[in-house]
Amino acid sequence: MTELAIIGGTGLTLLNSLRIDTRETVHTPWGEPSGPLIRGELGGAEVLFISRHGPGHTIPPHRVNYRANLWALREAGVCKIIAVAAVGGIQTALAPGRLVIPDQIIDYTWSRKHTCFEQDLNEVVHVDFSEPYCEELRSLLIRVSQELGLDALEAATYAATQGPRLETAAEIDRLERDGCTIVGMTGMPEAALARELGLCYATCAVIANHAAGRGDGPISMDVIKRNLATGMQQVHVLLEKIIPAATRK
Ligand code: HPA
Repeated sequence: MTELAIIGGTGLTLLNSLRIDTRETVHTPWGEPSGPLIRGELGGAEVLFISRHGPGHTIPPHRVNYRANLWALREAGVCKIIAVAAVGGIQTALAPGRLVIPDQIIDYTWSRKHTCFEQDLNEVVHVDFSEPYCEELRSLLIRVSQELGLDALEAATYAATQGPRLETAAEIDRLERDGCTIVGMTGMPEAALARELGLCYATCAVIANHAAGRGDGPISMDVIKRNLATGMQQVHVLLEKIIPAATRK
C-alpha cells in the first residue's frame, strides 16, 4: 500500500528520480482529479504523485478540483501528504528560492468547493482545524531540511488568496497586519479537505517572488519561473530523502 503522496505545485509537475510503475486515471464522487495518480518508487519507497495544476500545468488555482484530488488519494490508500506550493514572500527577508514549512493558514479564498461534508449527512460535522498542518510531517520536513542544510523557515502563516491575479500592495499590507508570512493561491481548501478526510498533511512552500509591493517592481511570470527553478532543486533533494523516511515503518 502506498502511504505517502506528493501533490506537486507550480514548478513541480513530476518528481526527478521517480521510477514510475503506473499511471491511474480515477473518478471520484466529486468529479475528476487534476490528472492521473502516478505511482512509483523513489529511494526504495513507494510514493504516489499528482500534479495539482494538471500534467500540462493548465488548471488555475481557483479551478483545481481539490475535493477530487484529496478523495482520490485517500481512496488509493494514502494517509500522508506532502503538498509542494509556490508562494510569494510577504516578509522582505524571505529570499526567493527559500523553503518555508508553514504552521498556520488563513483562508481568504471564496466560492471554492471547500468541504466534503455537505450532503447525505446524518448530522452536521465540524472538524477541529486549530493546528491545520500535521505536526508529525512538519517535524520530519524540518528535521530533514536541517540535515541537508537547506535553511527552511520552520514556522509561517500562509495566506491563501483566490487568484489567479496576484495581490495589490495594499492587500499584502493587510495580510501582513493579519500576521501572514507567505501568500499563495492553493493552500485552501486543500489543507482543510485533508483534515476532513483524516489525512496527515503538511506543506513545503517555495518562495517564488517577493509579494506585491515588497520587491523592485511588477512581478513577472519569468521571475517566478526563474526563482522556482532554483527552489525546486532544493525540493527535489528534500523529497528524495523524505520519501523513504516518511514511509519507513
Ligand atoms: N501571491 C499569491 N500566490 C503566489 C505568489 C504571490 O505573490 N507567488 C506565487 N504564488
